[in-house]
Amino acid sequence: MSGPVPIANSLEDIYTRDALDTQTKRWNNLLSKFESTYGHQPEFVSRSPGRVNIIGEHIDYSLYSVLPMAITADTIIAVSTHLPAPKEGTFRIQIANVQDSKFKSREFDILYDSVDIDATVHEWTNYFKSGLRGALELLRKKHGADFKPKSMQILMDGTVPAGGGLSSSAAFVTASALAVMAANGEQTVDKKELTELAIVSERAVGVNSGGMDQSASVFSERGSALFVSFTPTLLARPVSFPPTTPELTFLIAQSFVTADKFVTGPIHYNLRVVECTLAAAYLNAVLNPPGTLLPGDASPLGISLHGFHETYFALSEHNSGATSSKSITEQLEHLLELTKQTLTKEEGYTRSEIAAVLGLPSTSELDQKFTSRFPVRAERFKLRQRAIHVFSEALRVLKLMDLLETSSSSSSSSSSSSSSTTSTAEDLNSRLGALLNETQDSCREVYECSCEEIDRICAIARQAGSYGSRLTGAGWGGCSVHLVPADKVNNVKEALEREYYSKLELTEEQREGAVVVSKPGSGSALYLGGKEGLA
Ligand code: ATP
Ligand code: GLA
Ligand code: MG
Repeated sequence: MSGPVPIANSLEDIYTRDALDTQTKRWNNLLSKFESTYGHQPEFVSRSPGRVNIIGEHIDYSLYSVLPMAITADTIIAVSTHLPAPKEGTFRIQIANVQDSKFKSREFDILYDSVDIDATVHEWTNYFKSGLRGALELLRKKHGADFKPKSMQILMDGTVPAGGGLSSSAAFVTASALAVMAANGEQTVDKKELTELAIVSERAVGVNSGGMDQSASVFSERGSALFVSFTPTLLARPVSFPPTTPELTFLIAQSFVTADKFVTGPIHYNLRVVECTLAAAYLNAVLNPPGTLLPGDASPLGISLHGFHETYFALSEHNSGATSSKSITEQLEHLLELTKQTLTKEEGYTRSEIAAVLGLPSTSELDQKFTSRFPVRAERFKLRQRAIHVFSEALRVLKLMDLLETSSSSSSSSSSSSSSTTSTAEDLNSRLGALLNETQDSCREVYECSCEEIDRICAIARQAGSYGSRLTGAGWGGCSVHLVPADKVNNVKEALEREYYSKLELTEEQREGAVVVSKPGSGSALYLGGKEGLA
C-alpha cells in the first residue's frame, strides 16, 4: 500500500456516488470563497479524511497494531502560492477557514528554518503549523539546508467534528503537510513519508499521540478497513470484512460530549502515554536481567510496552538457548499473567516507588525523563491497569483479524447450504461484536477512558440490535462505533434518538449528524484540477 499519494482527477476519485452532490457543492463553495478571500483561484486542493477506529484503542503509542478505517468526512485545503514574498529570509502564510466565525483568519511571516508553535495556547492554526514544520523538515532533507519555502495562501474546510473522536486533527495535519509539499513543487508525495512526518509533527500541538490517525487518514482505501502495524516499520494493508446477509454496517454515534485532548491532556491522554511508558520501564526493571535497556523506538516517549515485549522474549530465548515456540498470541497471554503477578498495586504507584525500581536517584530524574515535554498531573500511576489493557487489547486485535481471515478463507472454499451459511455469518458477526464489547469493558473499567454518556449509548445500541458497541478514538466523550446488521440500523437509530438524543438540546444540524452509517472511505489525495482548471 505504499507509493505516492494519489492525484485525483475528479471528485469521483475521492468520494462514493452517494456523497458526490453534497461534496461538489462544498468544493465549489471552497473555491469561490477562496477567490473572494484572496482575489484569485487556488492552484490545487489537498484532502485528508477523518477515521473511525474499529478495534485497537489506546495501543498505537505502545506500538501495537490497530484496525481503523477512513470516513467520508474530511479536511480540504485550497492553496495558492501566488503572493509576493515578505522580507528576506522569511515566507508568508495567510490562512483562513470556511467556518470563519469559529476559526479566525491569520497571517504569519515565518523564518525559513524555524516554525514556532506555541503549544501552551489552544489555537487552530497550530495544527497547520505542525504539518508545515514536518513537511519543511522533509523538504530540507531532500533539497538541502538552504531550501527556501514558498509563501502560501490557504483556505480550509473541515467536516470532521472537532474533538469528536474521529480525528479531525490528523485530517487537518496530514492535509496541511501534503499542501506544503505540493506548494513547494512536490506533487509525488510518498504516503509513508507523509504519515511519518505527520505523526511526529502533530505532537507539537501538545498531545503526545500515537500513529493510528495519520496512518488511517493517509493510507486508507475505499471499501476496506486498514490494518496498521508500527514495528519494525510502519506498514498498512487493506482488510475486508466478509460480505454477509444482511450486510454488516459500521454505525457511528456522537455522544456530544466534547473531549478536548489538548485541555485534558495532563490528566487523560498524555497521562496514559506516560503510564504505559512507565509500565514498560518498570516491567523491564523487574523481569529482565539487571542493566537491560529497552530499545529506543518510534513511540512518543521513545520506549514502549511493545519494546519490552520483544526484549523479554528475545532475552528468555537467549538465556534458555532455545527458540521460543510461542506465537504472538501466546506471548501476549503470557505477558498478561506476568503483569498481574508483577504489578500488584491496584491503587497505583507513586513517583518515588517507580524511581526506586528504575534505579533513578530521585523523582526529579523520573519527571525529567518521562513528563518534562508533556506535563501530567497525577499522584499515582496505574501501571497495572494500563499494561493489562494494552496487552489484552493487542490480543483482541489479533483475534479479530484471525476471525476475518479464517472467515474469508472458509467462505471462499465453502459449499454449504444457505441456512448454515446464515448461521455461520450470524456466529461470525456475534464473535466480532463480542470483541468490540470486550474492548469497551476494558476501556471503561481498566483504562478509564470512557464516560457515562458513551456507556449509555453502547447499552442502548446493543439492546436495539448492535452486535458490538464501543467508544472510538481517544474517548472521554467523542464518538462511538457499532457493528450493526443493515436490517437493524433503523432500530438502533430510533432507540438512540428516543433514549439519548431527545434528552439533549441539539441543533437541527447536530441531530442530523448524530448517527451516521459509514462505509470505509479513501485516504489522502491531491486535486490539481482538470483541463478547465479547478473550478
Ligand atoms: P480524536 O483525536 O479523539 O480522534 P479529534 O482529532 O477531533 O479527535 P483533537 O485531536 O482534540 O480531536 O483535535 C481537535 C482540534 O483540531 C480542534 O480543537 C481544532 O483546533 C482543530 N480542528 C479540527 N477541525 C478543525 C476545523 N474544521 N477547522 C479548524 N480547526 C480544526
Ligand atoms: C487518539 C490518538 C491516537 C490513538 C487514539 C486512541 O485518537 O490521536 O493516536 O492513541 O486516540 O486509540
Ligand atoms: Mg486528534
